[in-house]
Amino acid sequence: MMPETTGRLRLGVNIDHVATVRNARGGDNPDPVRAAQIAAAAGADGITAHLREDRRHITDDDIARLTDALAIPLNLEMAATPEMLAIALRHRPHAACIVPERREERTTEGGLDAAGQIERLAPMCAELAAAGIRVSLFIEPAARQIEAAVTLGVPVVELHTGGYAHLAGDARAAELRRLADAAALAAKNGIEAHAGHGLTFDNVVPVAAIPQLAELNIGHFLIGEAIFIGLDASVRRMRGLMDAAR
Ligand code: PXP
Repeated sequence: MMPETTGRLRLGVNIDHVATVRNARGGDNPDPVRAAQIAAAAGADGITAHLREDRRHITDDDIARLTDALAIPLNLEMAATPEMLAIALRHRPHAACIVPERREERTTEGGLDAAGQIERLAPMCAELAAAGIRVSLFIEPAARQIEAAVTLGVPVVELHTGGYAHLAGDARAAELRRLADAAALAAKNGIEAHAGHGLTFDNVVPVAAIPQLAELNIGHFLIGEAIFIGLDASVRRMRGLMDAAR
């Protein structure tokens, strides 16, 4: 199967941190569904939301409301647990990205060790796929993780850009090469490559220029920047930088 590509690099906007701000006070504001609609109008191609085990930002109700309200695809980030599998099967988002999750982490700190848990992941990937959900694995840009994705038969991998984003100088350049090599290896194997984590206006262009990448998922920076310039302008500027990189 060839990767699904439209030529244009898609932007998935992660709206988790709108919910983080709402939850700081309780109540309904700011509403992540409204943020998703503004992001869509500003050029987002999809919306990403991570329903964490502890519900620290997105809630079950948010997922239900997003599913109802969105005209663009929803990508549900989820841990590989029976609870999250049941929720995904109930809501049937366009895509589900399996991420590693530890309660004590502040954000998703590393990629999923797909290579180390093929037997555990295989039935979950199969159930999601059978429900018509596009399965993605959030992995480090490493050949053994891509090979695990091939073994698992998933159509998509999302490459963790956190290492790239947090490094500088030669170390960052080396991490960018790892991302490019991983994206090329995925494409060679018929797997669509996405990327995300820690991307900003300042660091997105070299990643967006990797030709095999089909989608970037970006959240924390866009929502933070929205405080200063508004969400519409924040998404539009990111979209423009991504387009200019191609
Ligand atoms: N992709 C995945 C799989 C993630 O877990 C996250 C963080 O939730 C992102 C992308 C977005 O990362 P950031 O919020 O740093 O832009």
